[in-house]
Amino acid sequence: MHDRDSAGATPAIESNPAVALFYDGGVSEITLDDLPLRDELRGQTPYGAPQAPLPITLNVNENAHQVPAEVSADIVARIAAALESVNRYPDREFIELRDAFAGYLGHGLTRANIWAGNGSNEVLQHVLQAFGGPGRTAFTFGPSYSMYPLLTRGTGARWTEGTRAADYSLDAADAAAQVAAADPDVVILCSPNNPTGTPLPLDVIEAVYEAARGIVIVDEAYWEFAPKEQPSALTLLPGRERLIISRTMSKAFAFAGARVGYLAAHPAVVDALRLVRLPYHLSALTQAAALGALAHAPAMLAMVDEIVVQRDRISARLRELGFTPMPSWANFVMFGGVADPAGAWQQLYDRGILVRDLGIPGHLRVTAGTAEETTAFLDAMASIDSSS
Ligand SMILES: Cc1ncc(COP(=O)(O)O)c(C=O)c1O
Repeated sequence: MHDRDSAGATPAIESNPAVALFYDGGVSEITLDDLPLRDELRGQTPYGAPQAPLPITLNVNENAHQVPAEVSADIVARIAAALESVNRYPDREFIELRDAFAGYLGHGLTRANIWAGNGSNEVLQHVLQAFGGPGRTAFTFGPSYSMYPLLTRGTGARWTEGTRAADYSLDAADAAAQVAAADPDVVILCSPNNPTGTPLPLDVIEAVYEAARGIVIVDEAYWEFAPKEQPSALTLLPGRERLIISRTMSKAFAFAGARVGYLAAHPAVVDALRLVRLPYHLSALTQAAALGALAHAPAMLAMVDEIVVQRDRISARLRELGFTPMPSWANFVMFGGVADPAGAWQQLYDRGILVRDLGIPGHLRVTAGTAEETTAFLDAMASIDSSS
């Protein structure tokens, strides 16, 4: 039951049992095609990374480690306190949380520079709602994160893609020339890039910013896994009012289920995002949980170094086995040299291990899990015959 994800051929949307009930027990023949759907959404497939109940899930770049018990106790206490006034709307401006994000990011940022949402997906959606939309275009260098085109089209904007070198790297002059030729309203750069894991040098960001007339987003969802001495794109913010750096608590902070993402930008950009957000979009419970997690940032981030150890172990062992792992600054590794990715994916699945087949010929992607999960994955890779 190979079930390639949304970047490839996603299976048809599951039929909703409620529809059959609604139609009085009859089998409904109604499909999307029968609805007055927006033209640009026809034929699209929803985000579809499989959520299979397997013992080892290494397919969506989650953090395999649980939130430390002492931190969850504090978060539970904060949520309990927030519940006492949950009859009231939450702070629409989430000021305490924006202060906490500014403190975490440093670089002289203040609350005026910070925005947040229910996952960085929502933050990116706000940016595309404000700066994309009908008649406009958004652009990235493929392959990149599969949600970018979906979020773009959801706002009615057109999606365009540039190209990378054969090793998935980007060169400043070439990237700038591609952006100048495409002339998009929004450029999204992923640093390090998902799904390849490859780093993005700051000179590429600077060159793309100069070549672009529109907004340039640098998605640093995996930044905490990058080498510590490397400067973040946050260092480029001063003087660049069209530059946006987005981050998430889903990866390094092990907070994917809480849905918290954020960005740093010029205060005028933050003002633009207020025009498109829903009022009170961050619930009081989400704000309380995120504040608790940030108050314990060192404890929450304690497993990052261990995840980096497992990531580098994956790369070294896959290389020994004859595969070609891409250099990764993230919590996952994409590797080539897989003769039959669909077959290898299925063999891993049959061993209880879920990895990602993004439809890139000859490649699979695996998230660095716990030491035990990583061992199980590497042992399985050694036992299946899939290197070309
Ligand atoms: C590059 C990138 N950006 C953003 C996200 C979205 O993260 P979230 O919405 O959980 O913050 C992901 C998730 O996998 C990602 O890989």
